[in-house]
Amino acid sequence: MEIRIVPMAFAHLDQVVEIDNRSFSIPWFRKMFFDELMNEHARYFVAIADEKTPVGYIGMHVVFDEAYVTNIAVSPDHRRLGIGKKLLSRILETCREMDVTSVTLEVRVSNEVAISLYRSFGFRPVGKRINYYRNPTEDAYIMLLDISDTDSKRFGKLRN
Ligand SMILES: CC(C)(COP(=O)(O)OP(=O)(O)OC[C@H]1O[C@@H](n2cnc3c(N)ncnc32)[C@H](O)[C@@H]1OP(=O)(O)O)[C@@H](O)C(=O)NCCC(=O)NCCS
Repeated sequence: MEIRIVPMAFAHLDQVVEIDNRSFSIPWFRKMFFDELMNEHARYFVAIADEKTPVGYIGMHVVFDEAYVTNIAVSPDHRRLGIGKKLLSRILETCREMDVTSVTLEVRVSNEVAISLYRSFGFRPVGKRINYYRNPTEDAYIMLLDISDTDSKRFGKLRN
């Protein structure tokens, strides 16, 4: 299966909402994705399988040199195929292009799969938000990736 990562567009919203519904106990409404596509601080991408079907998405907000990953989900039928990694790689590539130096996100403390994905990119837990999630109520880890000391510097040197 060929996977392409492209910027999210309004035409992808039906499938993105379906992926979200199948991935989270409290999914986002369509309007929330719609608003994100109108938000100048937001960058969203979808993974397209075989040139047609969206099978995953990721989003972030960027303010100055800080990024916050709002969400990532891959359709349950397409997990464990490296799509999550591709989506995260694309967002970190965009961070480098935008001279972002740190990236944060929140994740349920029990979500070992996502935590393992984030760790594989160098994110580390730096704090906890108590009872951050509902349905079920659960704490969140705050995870941070500091890219100022690694890739972005290298990228900066290459450009100078
Ligand atoms: C988290 C999620 C996006 C991962 O997507 P994916 O496409 O299945 O992930 P990948 O195939 O790219 O795997 C990347 C890494 O994640 C980890 N991982 C993925 N599936 C895993 C599993 N079942 N068990 C343990 N680790 C797993 C591994 O570290 C893996 O790297 P590896 O294959 O080299 O071992 C997907 O499981 C998902 O949509 N989950 C539901 C939504 C969610 O929890 N989002 C995170 C919100 S904070």
